Amino acid sequence: MRHITAAEIAAFEKIYRLNLVNGLPGFKPANLVGTAAPDGQTNLAVFSSAIHLGSDPAVLGIVTRPTTVPRHTYQNIKDSGGCFTLNHVPLSLVAQAHYTSANFEDNVSEFAECGFTAVHRDGFSAPYVAESSLSIGLRLREEHAIFNGTVLLVSEVEHVYLREEGLRPDGTLDLVALGEAAISGLDGYHEVLPPTRYGYARPGQFPKAQ
Ligand SMILES: Cc1cc2nc3c(=O)[nH]c(=O)nc-3n(C[C@H](O)[C@H](O)[C@H](O)COP(=O)(O)O)c2cc1C
Repeated sequence: MRHITAAEIAAFEKIYRLNLVNGLPGFKPANLVGTAAPDGQTNLAVFSSAIHLGSDPAVLGIVTRPTTVPRHTYQNIKDSGGCFTLNHVPLSLVAQAHYTSANFEDNVSEFAECGFTAVHRDGFSAPYVAESSLSIGLRLREEHAIFNGTVLLVSEVEHVYLREEGLRPDGTLDLVALGEAAISGLDGYHEVLPPTRYGYARPGQFPKAQ
């Protein structure tokens, strides 16, 4: 096994370190974060940091990079009563999704520029991605500054939209049927195989595939 210490990580060349550390969490969810400025200008950015923070109430988080330089996503969320959308990335549109990470000018919407369609649903001020099989409307509830300058945006789920074939009778999601991508690092987009599924684990009952 190769052993890499914290001191070595700190001494690595910047891009090498970025690549390595971004891969450490393993496979990550692929989402497009949709926001709108108060003047209606829409913004879309690929984020791999969405995490589940609780189910009752339904709470998800995203982590934004340090806000020392202007971040449209973060600013739009702050300026629009905390509204934003998470839209799962379809496998067929991973190049377009990746393109949203480019540094576009303020007056350019990544929706049109990268090949996505903005849709408004049920009076929610943030735009959804029409091409996504699963989209979530969220509202910011808490903001946590992390010691390295990143910010955790703790947000409550207000709306979920998904294609019927992605919802199993027991409430679990069939993300493979929805044709979704996963992310590794900052550069890898993956097709995922169907899962081996297990029920609730109990001591003394070794899990059997369902
Ligand atoms: C695969 C991938 C994953 C990313 N995940 C995040 C993330 O979780 N948080 C973040 O702040 N930026 C992330 N980014 C960078 C944003 O997509 C990028 O900074 C984008 O331009 C932000 O746009 P904004 O300035 O309009 O908010 C990621 C980029 C890529 C390519």
